[in-house]
Amino acid sequence: MGTKNSRLQGFYNLPPLQRLELVRSFDGLNESDIQALHGSSITLTIDRADKMIENVIGMFNLPTGVATNFQINGRDVLIPMVVEEPSIVAGASYAARMVRAGGGFQTSSTESLMIGQVQLVQVADPERVQETILAHRGDILKLANAQSRSLIALGGGARDVEVQTFPTSPMGPMVVVHLVVDCLDAMGANAINSMCEAIAPLLEMLTGGRAYLRILSNLSDRRLARARAVVPPAALERNGIRGEEVAEGIMWAYSFAAVDPYRATTHNKGIMNGIDPVLIATGNDWRAVEAGAHAYAARSGRYTSLSVWERDEAGNLVGTLEMPLAVGIVGGATKVHPTAQAALKLLGVRSARELAEICVCAGLASNLAAMRALATEGIQCGHMGLHARQIALAAGATGNLVDEVARRMVEERVIKPARAEELLTELRGA
Ligand code: MEV
Repeated sequence: MGTKNSRLQGFYNLPPLQRLELVRSFDGLNESDIQALHGSSITLTIDRADKMIENVIGMFNLPTGVATNFQINGRDVLIPMVVEEPSIVAGASYAARMVRAGGGFQTSSTESLMIGQVQLVQVADPERVQETILAHRGDILKLANAQSRSLIALGGGARDVEVQTFPTSPMGPMVVVHLVVDCLDAMGANAINSMCEAIAPLLEMLTGGRAYLRILSNLSDRRLARARAVVPPAALERNGIRGEEVAEGIMWAYSFAAVDPYRATTHNKGIMNGIDPVLIATGNDWRAVEAGAHAYAARSGRYTSLSVWERDEAGNLVGTLEMPLAVGIVGGATKVHPTAQAALKLLGVRSARELAEICVCAGLASNLAAMRALATEGIQCGHMGLHARQIALAAGATGNLVDEVARRMVEERVIKPARAEELLTELRGA
């Protein structure tokens, strides 16, 4: 029986193998899952990799960390994160602890509806084809649904047809048909693209036009995940700064992102810092989610913050994040990559929607961690220790020397490759 408690105190200070033992005790994972997460044995064989993409010559490794302290809809969750940037896993875990003090994250999501687009040009009467296309809605849906038997068998598939007309464009007028598809637990790109390609000839026949592009839209604004977090001011207290003061600083940080696209871009990057690592760990298409996120952030016509922060009557800080999250737990790399399979098991998700909801919590947590640091001691303070370790590693430090060289550089506030090399020579000679 596992512990199922993500509040793993002292996890940060353990060596990797002991951390892995604690992850094992979180239950549901067998030995091969543990090995896949650890990456000690070859988890992705070159043969498998060679089937995933083209011109394969090898494999690329990244660290897998585990974010702790997350409580989502009352359930404790350990979140695997694959990422190269220091402080992201620590920041998300720290923020999740603050949110935990306010009752944890609450989430919801829409159905997994995605849009496929078929572009039609040289349509004789663009304004009138809408009627013709919609009059054949049933035939279009039937043809689309004939392309993906498995999705239909599970209750998903093409649900609706919509028509948009663009009277002008650099090349002239065009009609764009939207096919709305319920992708259930798949990300859905393959199914949607096949459907779009299949219905294009029928649309050409109905409109007398010519179909060019037949592809999904990554602005998946009907496939949204939402998270809400309440942080009591007491949980924000740190290094002698009162919680209320930190909350005030965070509200100014959010306000900055709300009004200024230059700041909103960085603020949203901080949100994606929490999401992309989960997408990578679970074998999902992070470029698709990135594209959708930023387009959604500009949906009002002006690019702004994806998250919203406010204070409730009790003085708690309340954060919400709603954004498109087109993720899958079946098909693609989620199925082929053993570590992705183990990561999904560790997360304990049974649907793509549950995974999307966890992602959005990780995003909100990263956002909170970044704003808290920025509004108080600054981002460099937390970064410095880990950055110094990377410089020490790059200078050739191994074992205990990594921490020792890093510690000294932070103490001296000189974190430079040349200083790391000097310290290394000095310590090796000692
Ligand atoms: C760095 O990876 C992310 C931050 O820049 C996000 C932010 O500024 O909110 C710290």
